[in-house]
Order: sequence, then C-alpha cells, then structure tokens
Amino acid sequence: MTTADSEKLDTVALGTDGPQVGVQGLGCMGMSWAYGPTDETEARATLERALELGVTLLDTADVYGLGANEEFLAPFVRAHRDRVVLATKFSIVRSPDDPYGRTVIRNDAPYIREAIENSLRRLGVDHVDLYYMHRRNPDVPLEESVGAMAELVAEGKVRHLGLSEVTGGELRAAHAVHPIAAVQSEWSLFSRDVEQGVVGAARELGVAFVPYSPLGRGFLTGSFANADRELPSDDFRRRQPRFTGDNAAANAALLEPVRKVAEAHGATLAQIALAWVQQRARVHAGLAVVPIPGTRSRRRLEENTAATRIELSEEELAALEPIAGRVAGDRYEDMTFTSAGRE
Ligand SMILES: NC(=O)c1ccc[n+]([C@@H]2O[C@H](COP(=O)([O-])OP(=O)(O)OC[C@H]3O[C@@H](n4cnc5c(N)ncnc54)[C@H](OP(=O)(O)O)[C@@H]3O)[C@@H](O)[C@H]2O)c1
Repeated sequence: MTTADSEKLDTVALGTDGPQVGVQGLGCMGMSWAYGPTDETEARATLERALELGVTLLDTADVYGLGANEEFLAPFVRAHRDRVVLATKFSIVRSPDDPYGRTVIRNDAPYIREAIENSLRRLGVDHVDLYYMHRRNPDVPLEESVGAMAELVAEGKVRHLGLSEVTGGELRAAHAVHPIAAVQSEWSLFSRDVEQGVVGAARELGVAFVPYSPLGRGFLTGSFANADRELPSDDFRRRQPRFTGDNAAANAALLEPVRKVAEAHGATLAQIALAWVQQRARVHAGLAVVPIPGTRSRRRLEENTAATRIELSEEELAALEPIAGRVAGDRYEDMTFTSAGRE
C-alpha cells in the first residue's frame, strides 16, 4: 500500500525535550489482551501500516497480557527500532489467577529496577523511549519513584519519563524531581475528569498529554452498546460500570449528537470522537496532545488517522459539550486507582 503525503500525520514534540511523534499514536493493548480474540496477522499488518501513515508512538505496558503484549511487539520494534517511539509502563502487579485484578500497585525503587529489566528482555531492546508509572501508590513518596525512574534515564535504559493517572499536584511534584515528558490518562467525549487539574498542569509544565481510550474503549464508535450482552465473558469492558446494565442503555442514547455530527461530515462516530479530543485540547493553548486509539485492523487505523483532518465547528463542539456530564457509571469499578479518586 502506498501512502500519499496528504495521508501522513503531522508531528508534535513529546514534552519540552522529547522526541517528535505523529500527532496520533497507536494503543497496542488490545492486540494481546482485554478486548477478545486477535487476528495476529492483521494486527502485525496494522503495525506496519501505522508507520507508513506516520503513527510512531506505540503504547504498551508490562501488565497487558502479563508480558504478552510486549513480547508480541518485540519483532516489529526490533525491525524498526529507529522509527518507533516505544512506550511501556510498570506498577500494576497482577496474578494469572485474576488477570484483571488491580489490587497491588508497586512504585518502590527496587520494583522499578526489576520491572524495566523484564520489559527490556521481553521487548528485545536495550532502551525504551518513554517509561510510564502506570498507577500511583500514594504510600510511596514520588521522590522515591521518580528518583528511581531518573536513574534509569542516567543509565540509558529509558529515554524519557511519563506518568499515568496522576493528579495535577502529583505531576508538578514529579516534574520537580525529573522532567516528565508525557502524562497518559483517559480523555474522551465520555471521560473529562482530567480537565479539572492535570491537563492544565501539563500545559503549564510543557508536558505532552496522551489521551488513552479516546474511543471510550470502542463504545463511542457504536460498535457495541451493552457489554454484558454483546461481548465475550472475559472481555474487560464487562467490568466497567458504564458499559453494562441500565448505564449502558442510558449511555448509548448519549451518542445521538455524535451520530448527527458524523453524518454532517460523512464521517464515522470514531472519527468524530477522535477529532473532538484533538480539538478540545486546543482550549489549553500550547498543550501537545497525542491520542492513542487502539485498533488491530488496518481499515480502522486508516479511519482513525484520517480523523486528524476533521475540523469541528463551534456549533458542533457545543452540541457535544454536555455529553460527558450525563454519562452514567464510572470508568472503573474502583476509582481509587485513578487520578479522579485523588484530584
Ligand atoms: N494508562 C492506562 O491506564 C491505560 C488504560 C487503558 C488503555 N490504555 C492504552 O490506551 C490504548 C487505547 O485505549 P483502548 O484500547 O482501551 O480504547 P480505545 O482506543 O478507546 O478503543 C479501542 C476499541 O475500539 C475499537 N476501535 C478502534 N478503532 C475503531 C473504529 N474506527 N471503529 C470502530 N471500533 C474501533 C477497537 O477494536 P479493534 O481493535 O478490534 O479495532 C477496540 O475495541 C490502549 O491500547 C492502551 O495502550 C492505557
């Protein structure tokens, strides 16, 4: 497949001193975990197509499939090491008996030193470009965690540091220990709690924002309306309060204005959801934003990258504005592990 220059993504810097990346990244979690069976051949073809389109930031974590996602990415990353900006994460410790459990969060220095070695081994590389603390354990001082992460930078095992699901205050405190290149938290038409604190802090500090689940884990695309009824029993989304039971029915009705805007643009719901995130970030002038929608198919990847060329009007933004405030149900069963639980 050839790629016209007009299809290629623009680039943006990941933090003040960070690398240039395409303005949309690729979430790789679903290739190995959480969202049902994967056609691995198509997923690998999606990775190749991503690079052709200028999608360079690849997102994984040690916990996705308990290491399986890092191992899945390894051959691709090794083949294209200089073109890929590779991000992985540590801190969520899960047991094979309870793969979605999130009860143990490790932010202590010995654990971080062990976690990076395991990720480097699984990925088959000598450094990762961006290393995130996936969740914060408030019992461990940030100075200890970020201090240990900074040592990995000094040792060349990690190029840049990131944090996921932190509050604005936590970001400021961490940034004072060592520059943080990126914050990754959920940000979408359905999830806007980050706008209360951490988005503004990121803009002030010159930290890039990486919205995860910008498609509301697929719900915003209209591809499922009720996780209980439509998704396999081991699909992670069946554990998320907003996608099940009465909440799901109420939330599916909230997509009506998204559908109308999509029709007006001859676009899909997914594209409008992605265009919204990109455009919403402009309210925080100067904030670099790199959403990382997850997909395992080339067709959807092309659809998603094309969304970077959609401009929503003021009227359309106004029609989409009330949606998040009306969403029924939380993002997770246990919100204490999110920044919203501490902001
Ligand atoms: N830091 C954190 O705590 C955290 C939490 C969650 C996720 N993440 C990261 O963020 C990435 C993205 O989030 P996510 O995967 O949870 O959610 P998402 O990007 O909001 O949605 C992904 C889902 O939407 C589907 N999809 C993608 N493009 C589509 C399109 N154009 N039309 C219809 N359906 C489409 C995907 O299915 P197919 O794959 O079948 O296309 C998948 O089921 C993850 O891969 C992961 O790397 C980070």
